[in-house]
Amino acid sequence: MMLLEDTFQRKFKTLRVSLLDVCNLACVYCTMGGDEQEKINRSPQQSASHFAKLIGKLHGHLNFETIRLTGGEPLLFREIIPLIKSLKNLGIPQIKMTSNGTLLKQKAADLKHAGLQCINVSLDAVEDAAFFKVSKRKNLKQTLDGIDSALDCGLDVKINSVIMRGMNDDQLLPLLDFAFERNIAIRFLEIMAMGHLYNQSEKYFFSQTDMLEKISMYYQITPMPRKSSSTANYWKTSHGNTFGIIANNSHPFCGDCNRLRMDSFGNLFGCLSSNHPISFSGDENDETLRQNLQLAMNQKQTFRFTGSDMSMLHIGG
Ligand code: GTP
Ligand code: 5AD
Repeated sequence: MMLLEDTFQRKFKTLRVSLLDVCNLACVYCTMGGDEQEKINRSPQQSASHFAKLIGKLHGHLNFETIRLTGGEPLLFREIIPLIKSLKNLGIPQIKMTSNGTLLKQKAADLKHAGLQCINVSLDAVEDAAFFKVSKRKNLKQTLDGIDSALDCGLDVKINSVIMRGMNDDQLLPLLDFAFERNIAIRFLEIMAMGHLYNQSEKYFFSQTDMLEKISMYYQITPMPRKSSSTANYWKTSHGNTFGIIANNSHPFCGDCNRLRMDSFGNLFGCLSSNHPISFSGDENDETLRQNLQLAMNQKQTFRFTGSDMSMLHIGG
């Protein structure tokens, strides 16, 4: 079967699936604060078999290399282990996850055993007060323990740190040292104009240039060649350590994007900043599904990330 592609010959090679749109943290960029616990308790969840059916249908048309499970917080998804096992059985080469890490300690071994290869852990601070300022929760130790457990189990771990002016920019160097000491890959993220921050993310904006300026005061750094379709640019220090920056705003990478997204209701999105869901139940015939996938493909942007009022909690990044 001919694989779908856009006018720039790009294909969807990665599917990001948001399993649920609730989280046990309340980070400034995702929510406006407030108690999410009640929502977590009453939030309905789809079954693993439902997701496996939808993902299997898409895989039949697109032949993914990677599925990345996101949320909300994907480790709150009750059937996470059966789901990963089903995805493995579909023959998908790489199964990855992006998580806040707070529940990882208990689950790391089972995740690895089920077939998860990589986990990107969001960690925006390594000091209690700063962690609380960003997340409104006191889960720093849990997150750090989760990272240790994931490493012990042989999972490939990366840290994502969103750096925000006046919020946690003082954590940039402590985070870098934390990652260097443990030899963990780290990427710093520019804040994106998403959800409730759409139209007002500038107040927190801390650019790639700002980050490099700060890091250069302590480390001698040189840029590394950029890999195609990578979200990050990487630098190397004179000590041989590397770090990345995901510069969504100042250095957009939409041009070689290869990602399709699906939310927990089965809606498809061809672009993170397109708030035009394409519904997908899994019962469509092949022709309808291909037409819908082409619509998603046509949402892909060529240059700039424009932002969206859709919450990251919903679309999962
Ligand atoms: P790997 O490179 O495979 O580790 O994953 P990743 O960087 O694609 O995934 P992750 O979930 O860690 O995402 C890191 C950041 O990149 C998040 O803030 C995402 O929102 C952002 N991101 C991921 N894909 C895209 C994209 O297609 N466009 C834009 N503008 N940002 C993206
Ligand atoms: N801007 C940049 N990064 C964000 N993330 C969530 N919301 C935003 C935002 N508005 C990060 C999370 C996670 C990744 C998927 O995206 O911290 O690491």
